[in-house]
Amino acid sequence: MSLFNVYPLFDITPVRAKDVYVYDENDVEYLDLYGGHAVISIGHSHPKYVYNIANQLNKIGFYSNSIQNPLQEALASELEAASGCLDYQLFLCNSGAEANENAIKLASFHTNKKKVIAFKNGFHGRTSAAVAATDNSKIIAPVNAQQEVELFQLGDLVGVESALKKNDVCAVIIESIQGVGGLDESTTDFYKGLDLICKRHEVVLIADEVQSGFGRTGDFFAFQKHGIKPNIISMAKGMGNGFPVGGILIHPNIKASYGLLGTTFGGNHLACIASLTVLEVLKKEKLQQNVKEISNYFTKKAKVLPKVKAIKGRGLMLGLEFDFPIANLRKELIFKHKIFTGSAKNPNVLRILPPLTIQKEHIDQFINALKIELS
Ligand SMILES: Cc1ncc(COP(=O)(O)O)c(C=O)c1O
Repeated sequence: MSLFNVYPLFDITPVRAKDVYVYDENDVEYLDLYGGHAVISIGHSHPKYVYNIANQLNKIGFYSNSIQNPLQEALASELEAASGCLDYQLFLCNSGAEANENAIKLASFHTNKKKVIAFKNGFHGRTSAAVAATDNSKIIAPVNAQQEVELFQLGDLVGVESALKKNDVCAVIIESIQGVGGLDESTTDFYKGLDLICKRHEVVLIADEVQSGFGRTGDFFAFQKHGIKPNIISMAKGMGNGFPVGGILIHPNIKASYGLLGTTFGGNHLACIASLTVLEVLKKEKLQQNVKEISNYFTKKAKVLPKVKAIKGRGLMLGLEFDFPIANLRKELIFKHKIFTGSAKNPNVLRILPPLTIQKEHIDQFINALKIELS
């Protein structure tokens, strides 16, 4: 049987990984500035993570959501402490798209409306409502296109409010800082205004923190920089450091009822222990502080690079914009310099989304490689 061929693959086969490095079958070492697409938060195969998951597996790995699982309660309370998002309710699932799908569905139940507002260049995943809210016609199948979605330019508060006035919108979904789109972020005035008009028109504001959450920007959630209070916050990626886990935080104004949402695998014992360990290590190793320090260091170093048009992003969701497509540069970085980086929808943006444990010496390694390639 062959694989369904949907991924253009780099011909590299990692067989093990440690902190910010991955190793192929010939033991060649690669510096991982991609983090498997912003997934690796506390570093590959962190000893505490390996120990806790193995230990949990030896006790119980999975049972259904029809029994008590105290690990879910523990995760809810640790998440509240780490994020400062007080009194929200937690629903657990398995991926970013699923988190957004549940967020949109819940918004629709709550408001009894069905139109969704999203933003140009946004990415929210590949399931039905999530992909319909994603600005990429190539991945929207006819069955998804029946969803009612209106896209606005990031920052267009006037446009969004005119749509909300029609009284048929259930949710506005937004990434506080766009990931796949290429690291664009609007102003605090815009995010505050958006929060205000959503509240004014009783529309559910969904902060998609799938990529930017769990400390990646230096704040626990990226929206926190703007002092807003979304009704639903979606999470995944860094939440499990590679273990598939996602979830939504739901404002207390939105009430639960039996059967409203559900999942077989979501919130299983292994997923909870993975995420609890991420929270424990984030705190113990002061990784949010590290994110800020390394981010500042990167920005300072990147300023001296030739040919860079803009340094984009914040925290460890960073990018360099050039006035040429970066596909070749990315290949040179991988095959010649043994450094993994990321791309974006904007073909001129080279992104880095490293583990949050990254140190200055790794940034130096990257900057030196770029100096060689750009000179
Ligand atoms: C902001 C954002 N939302 C949602 C998703 C979808 O997450 P997943 O691939 O886990 O379904 C992604 C994935 O890149 C993302 O960056």
